[in-house]
Amino acid sequence: MSSAAVVSVAGSPGVTTLACAVAVASGEDRALLVVEAATSGAAIAARWRLDVRDTVTTTARLAMEASGTVDLWAAAHQPWLASSRVIPAHPSPVVMRQAQVARWLATHLTSVHQPVLIDAGRVDGSVEQFDLLAAADAVWVLVDPIVEQVVAARAVAEWLNATGPVHLLVREPAGDPARDSAGALASTLGWPVAATVPDDPQSARALCGLSPARRNLARAPLIRTGKAVADRLAAVKGPA
Ligand SMILES: Nc1ncnc2c1ncn2[C@@H]1O[C@H](COP(=O)(O)OP(=O)(O)OP(=O)(O)O)[C@@H](O)[C@H]1O
Ligand SMILES: [Mg+2]
Repeated sequence: MSSAAVVSVAGSPGVTTLACAVAVASGEDRALLVVEAATSGAAIAARWRLDVRDTVTTTARLAMEASGTVDLWAAAHQPWLASSRVIPAHPSPVVMRQAQVARWLATHLTSVHQPVLIDAGRVDGSVEQFDLLAAADAVWVLVDPIVEQVVAARAVAEWLNATGPVHLLVREPAGDPARDSAGALASTLGWPVAATVPDDPQSARALCGLSPARRNLARAPLIRTGKAVADRLAAVKGPA
């Protein structure tokens, strides 16, 4: 099945929030597996109150304990009302690194029958992360086009290009004088824009577990983008 890894290059442009938006928006017929592989900034278990000590299987636990083929879909959790599932990261970056989660996931991606969206966190230049991005069918770099993230993206562009084709997800709002436009960013970096991601603090707060979801969440800008990204993920060409 198809897989895509979402990464950031600097700051916190909203990778994890977008992954949750995609899962929430994916719908019954487009159920997908979110795998949180970020070594730092593990957030999903905390945000969705999943108890990683006892009941919840994390990517770190699977990477350390599972031998042979693992049914990742069966091991995943369903914290959203939508039918999508998640395998959250362990909150400790030490445990995540020791478990070599990125390397483990790179070798297990093709066994999943549902589309897989990987929260690969910040680009860290490690061999393990390189292998994971190279194993994913698509790499999407989420950039908030403020100067430090644009500079960071240019600095790691060569490394990212070596993992395969790269596309951009660009945070809006467009027209902010402090931000490059999506088009300008695409021409600076040489990566096509897969989607723009609206500034939607209310939905973001709900997706981060900080406020209850509004009744019309499905129509909110960030969830609509999540739906478009879910559709795009389903259309990504997996291995033949
Ligand atoms: N589209 C958005 N509109 C408004 N606020 C957002 C949006 N996406 C994320 N946020 C807010 O930005 C903050 C960071 O989001 P998030 O944790 O998803 O970023 P990240 O890129 O995963 O960061 P990290 O590198 O720390 O993992 C959160 O407070 C979240 O609510
Ligand atoms: Mg994150």
